[in-house]
Amino acid sequence: MTHWDCIIIGAGAAGLMCAAEAAKRGVNVLLLDHAKQAGKKILISGGGRCNFTNYNIEPSAYLSQNPHFCKSALSRYTQWDFIGLVSDYGIAYHEKTLGQLFCDDSAKEIVSMLMSECTKAGAKVQLRTAVQEVTYDAESSTYTVLTPNGKLECNKLVIASGGLSMPKLGATGFGYEIAQQFGLDVLPTRAGLVPFTLQPDEKSHFEPLSGVSVNARITTQDGTSFNENILFTHRGLSGPAVLQGSSYWAPGEDVSIDILPNESAIDFLLKAKTEQGDKSIKTVLATVLAKRVAELWLEYEKIEAKPLKQFSENQLEAIAQRLNAWTIKPSGTEGYRTAEVTLGGVNTNELSSKTMEAKKQPGLYFIGEVMDVTGWLGGYNFQWAWSSGWACAQAL
Ligand code: FDA
Repeated sequence: MTHWDCIIIGAGAAGLMCAAEAAKRGVNVLLLDHAKQAGKKILISGGGRCNFTNYNIEPSAYLSQNPHFCKSALSRYTQWDFIGLVSDYGIAYHEKTLGQLFCDDSAKEIVSMLMSECTKAGAKVQLRTAVQEVTYDAESSTYTVLTPNGKLECNKLVIASGGLSMPKLGATGFGYEIAQQFGLDVLPTRAGLVPFTLQPDEKSHFEPLSGVSVNARITTQDGTSFNENILFTHRGLSGPAVLQGSSYWAPGEDVSIDILPNESAIDFLLKAKTEQGDKSIKTVLATVLAKRVAELWLEYEKIEAKPLKQFSENQLEAIAQRLNAWTIKPSGTEGYRTAEVTLGGVNTNELSSKTMEAKKQPGLYFIGEVMDVTGWLGGYNFQWAWSSGWACAQAL
């Protein structure tokens, strides 16, 4: 049986950061993962270029039952700290849009950087190691971790096993099971940053648009809105605006889509009626929307493609209303199979926001996505992994 000061389960973004930082502080750390490669999600993230943080990190970009929980860690290890680390390693990066930072070359650079941080500091990374059982002996304040290769012991156990998104990359509910084993509350989980599926009639109607994207503003029933692109897919709708909106959507709810987000549709239609009344509504809409989108949207809304001058003002108002607030009811989402994140998880009320330690279970910590803190699309989730992993390491 080997004894460690600290064992971290999960060599993803949060676990790698925590292991390196704890080892730098002299802690004898073992980082375990059942996968054969560390940081698998980092490697495929951002289309292989890893959107590793965002210039505009702020607590309001995180969903959690306790919106204050993320503030402490995010303010102690900021995006500027991570950008500094990336720069120290000479990794070239660029801002793509909305403050989102990506590697110029490859996400592999981020994983190599974190692995070198672990190696330099002396943290041991052990892959292909599935954890079968965890037990705690209160008398000696010792955790025992059972693996197929034998038993490991530690005084501090950090759960960094992530959420349920993308099981094919090794995601499991392990962290939630450990939380429950030690009597911690786990909030219901659901897929976030995930494409919507459409009802059968909408799906088949819009299927020909698969691959087409348009700028739109999505508003969910709670009033949250995002103005970015939406992408029509074979199954429904995706694209950044939809992924963002999905985190604020609950099954059965409507979503409002403004497909002319940068103008008042009624002003546009009335002006067009005055200036180009002989033109069909389809031709006029095709000047602001892709032609095929205009065509299929009008068909779907059962609006005849006749000249604009043949529409009364009331009729144009009704059409404008639908252009600025096209209401759909998704049939669901694509689920954990394609979701980028998992909403819900270990209830943050159970944890210290400073150290990430469980309040009722000394020596047990949760970091990263396993807990109920979920960021927007755009580097916010990795920043939470870095910040929570760093904050925890300071307490080990
Ligand atoms: P993470 O999932 O990274 O790591 C958990 C680790 O635990 C894994 O290595 C897993 O193998 C291991 N594990 C799980 N169960 C275990 C068990 N029972 N025993 C041992 N090990 C176990 N975010 C962002 O900010 N920018 C981006 O560009 C992207 N892009 C992106 C693309 C895709 C396709 C996905 C699926 C997700 C993203 N994300 C993202 C989200 C981001 O990847 C995610 O929020 C972080 O990886 C979470 O970091 P964690 O360390 O908490 O979990």
